[in-house]
Amino acid sequence: MPSPRYYITVVSGLEEVAWGELQEKLAAPRLVRMERGRVFFDSASAPRELLALRSVENVLAYAGDFGGITADTNSLEHVRREVAQIPLDEQVLMYESITGPKREPSFRVTAHRTGTHDFNSVQVAAAAGAGVIDRYGWRVDLTGHDLEVRVDVREDTCLVGLRLSDTALSRRSRIEHGPASLKSTVAHCMIRLIGWHSNEAFVDPMCGTGTILVERIALGFPRLLVGGEREERMLQKSVINLGAALWPKPPARDAGQGCLAPTAATPPAEDAPVRFVRWDARRVPVAAGCVDRIACNLPWGRRVGSHRVNVHLYPAFVREVGRMLAEGGKAALLTAEKRLITRCIHREHRLALDGIRPIRVGGLHASIYVVKRV
Ligand SMILES: C[S@@+](CC[C@H](N)C(=O)[O-])C[C@H]1O[C@@H](n2cnc3c(N)ncnc32)[C@H](O)[C@@H]1O
Repeated sequence: MPSPRYYITVVSGLEEVAWGELQEKLAAPRLVRMERGRVFFDSASAPRELLALRSVENVLAYAGDFGGITADTNSLEHVRREVAQIPLDEQVLMYESITGPKREPSFRVTAHRTGTHDFNSVQVAAAAGAGVIDRYGWRVDLTGHDLEVRVDVREDTCLVGLRLSDTALSRRSRIEHGPASLKSTVAHCMIRLIGWHSNEAFVDPMCGTGTILVERIALGFPRLLVGGEREERMLQKSVINLGAALWPKPPARDAGQGCLAPTAATPPAEDAPVRFVRWDARRVPVAAGCVDRIACNLPWGRRVGSHRVNVHLYPAFVREVGRMLAEGGKAALLTAEKRLITRCIHREHRLALDGIRPIRVGGLHASIYVVKRV
């Protein structure tokens, strides 16, 4: 029997990084196609296994796609007719393998639309919903639905899938939020871009609510994990998020703190190789050449900080990255201040730019800069 076809949605720009994770974790994945924000593949893995992926926003069972969408409202009837032709039986079984059987399921359609059309996504959802009712007669329930059919109209094409992940997977493991908290999925991909090993010293010098630290620990404890931050209240949020992710009770502030579903290898909170330090990232109290990996989401000068402040912060911070990193060490730096960070990296003689990955997150164009210590 052929493997079921899935697709995942990811933050635009991180498709290849996500594909790396799929290849590493899934049974016999076969790439079907990759496009902006989506990766289509076949895999023998059970649907439940896909919910543990960390680079992925949503997991869907592929049902079908069709073309022929035009700009005018006649396309809505086309959507209804085409959706009514697409069987969802196998996809429902895949969903039920996670949730248990649903008798007489209710459903809703969520629609996303890009391109120039005389109709909006609500109208697409209504048309597709009518198609599903034509075929299956399921009851619509917008809030308490059992099944969610997702329809994506992009220009002249329409993709139909059944959602397997109930909530966006990026919303995991954060109970304390900050003004610029990073998506966990992006944090995970940043770490993938620089690689990791168990003997490393890992630092996020502006850790905010600790998203990157939680993701690093999800890959296993490093030799040492350090979160630094200027604001005490953010540091406390980090401690709570890491503690909640790993230990049922938040660890004491000074005891050495940690994070994520406890395993046999999870040390008790007081022995965890985790430190939080209140510091200024322009002058970090860490000896030169002692850090193997740095991942940091810098202030973009929008929700946190300002361009005026960044003009002073970035050069000093990038110098500290060059100073802290051990030879061969790497850093992933995320920001939308593209010109400023590029200038700072080029000026820091101890660093070489190893790659730039443009991403689109929160409606903004940002980039992950991978640098290595030369
Ligand atoms: C974009 S946020 C990081 C968000 C974090 N990745 C998260 O998921 O919550 C940048 C953080 O840098 C901190 N920050 C700004 N300037 C700093 C400095 N000079 N030293 C240390 N931290 C600083 C801010 O307080 C803020 O929490």
